[in-house]
Amino acid sequence: MARRKLIAGNWKMNGSVAALAELDGIAAAAAHAPGVDVAIAVPATLIAPAAQRVPALAIGAEDVHMAASGAHTGCISAEMVAAAGATFTIVGHSERRADQQESDADVKGKAAAARRAGIGAILCVGETLAERDAGDAESVVTGQIAGSLPDGAAADWLSIAYEPVWAIGTGRTPTVADVAAIHGAIRAKLAVLIGDEAVRMRLLYGGSVTPDNARELLGADDVDGALVGGASLTAAKFVPIIEAGAA
Ligand code: PGA
Repeated sequence: MARRKLIAGNWKMNGSVAALAELDGIAAAAAHAPGVDVAIAVPATLIAPAAQRVPALAIGAEDVHMAASGAHTGCISAEMVAAAGATFTIVGHSERRADQQESDADVKGKAAAARRAGIGAILCVGETLAERDAGDAESVVTGQIAGSLPDGAAADWLSIAYEPVWAIGTGRTPTVADVAAIHGAIRAKLAVLIGDEAVRMRLLYGGSVTPDNARELLGADDVDGALVGGASLTAAKFVPIIEAGAA
């Protein structure tokens, strides 16, 4: 089945109001690539100004709390980011799983919060280098899917991003065959969990996607888009990746 590609950026803890100027070029490229969905997750402080600056672009959060409100100092809910103009959020990024010790159950709660607030979610999974070297990549990733997939998982609001931890920010990427193998395993697991909806769900690859390797990675079987960190910070690098998605 033909799935529309999704090219999503993740600014992580980078960016300022001045950096939002990069979004102008990205929005223009997105307008010229009608066959591709383009989205950018930005730090919470930039959601509102980004959404106001480029209303045609999908602006998202990088994380949300699972509760709608309450005594959680420093946290931000899905309802809050939605009110600021976010139309989606990333959940379960490996940097949060590692730095904030987020469990699969936490990630499931955060994805459910996105659904409750009426926004989309990109749910991240991925193995460490030690897990890959031990031959456990597939079982780790499908285990994360089983543990973190929320109730009501459906392609109209949820995508999955496969991001091998060892490929993030390192310039190293798996082979196209390795990516296709894991994506195939994810889709098979999804079929067990959500039946026919698995065919519609978009599976993104993330980890050191650049203008140079985007076309090859996006051409792999079962790859329906990319989640891009470093190369999403500038229009000069992100626009060619959008174009690769449209090719
Ligand atoms: P990277 O990050 O493209 O800088 O490797 C990807 C991600 O963490 O989403």
